[in-house]
Amino acid sequence: METSRVGILGSGDVGQALGRGFARHGWDVMLGTRSPDELRASIGDLASVAVGSFSDAAVHGDVVVLAVLGDAAETVVEMAGPENFAEKLVFDATNPLDFSSGEVHLSLGGTDSLGERIQNALPDASVVKCFNTVSNSQMIDPEFEEGTPPMFICGNDEEAKARTEEILVELGWPGVMDVGDITAARYLEALVPLWVRVGSNLGTWKHAFKVVQ
Ligand SMILES: NC(=O)c1ccc[n+]([C@@H]2O[C@H](COP(=O)([O-])OP(=O)(O)OC[C@H]3O[C@@H](n4cnc5c(N)ncnc54)[C@H](OP(=O)(O)O)[C@@H]3O)[C@@H](O)[C@H]2O)c1
Repeated sequence: METSRVGILGSGDVGQALGRGFARHGWDVMLGTRSPDELRASIGDLASVAVGSFSDAAVHGDVVVLAVLGDAAETVVEMAGPENFAEKLVFDATNPLDFSSGEVHLSLGGTDSLGERIQNALPDASVVKCFNTVSNSQMIDPEFEEGTPPMFICGNDEEAKARTEEILVELGWPGVMDVGDITAARYLEALVPLWVRVGSNLGTWKHAFKVVQ
């Protein structure tokens, strides 16, 4: 493996699940947040994981994961400093979801996506949409009763997607389902309201989509 330092921008369920999981696999992890002191005081069993600002975490990682509220994703990239992502592999786990009506809706979509906006904001980085279509509890060392499907990913850089697959295999995935360039983030993000509805109907949050032929 080429790299073992990951900066995770986000301290919510996803940031903490990824932090714990990457650390378990031997990675040197830093979580980024607006409130490092508060996070340090509250993370308990994540104490072996370093904590810093969003920019500290972006600087720390050879690989950087964006795992913040979708509506804040572009702001967080600005806060972290786009120059701190240059030449790096960036996993975008975010989704543009709006729960304000009580139902889940996309807050953007159609001919746009957060994946594309993040790639546009970080022209010197290789953004791969990744982790956004599965529950935080299944992101690392996933276990599905009917077998673990490949992770849906997309992005513009073939080499970055090949590295992504290597990393995901290390983290317990069987491989990736590459659905194309970063414009495919429109459809990976659009899967998520369906994922929420299916989970609600089945009464589980440990499901995932799989392509069968
Ligand atoms: N939950 C899941 O299982 C799951 C699965 C797949 C994808 N996702 C996606 O992953 C992302 C993270 O989800 P999550 O469940 O961990 O929690 P979340 O509540 O969506 O995000 C929490 C993070 O967003 C940051 N944040 C919130 N508002 C902000 C603002 N105004 N300015 C700057 N930062 C702000 C928080 O910063 P602080 O650290 O400073 O509080 C925190 O780090 C979301 O885009 C979500 O759609 C979630």
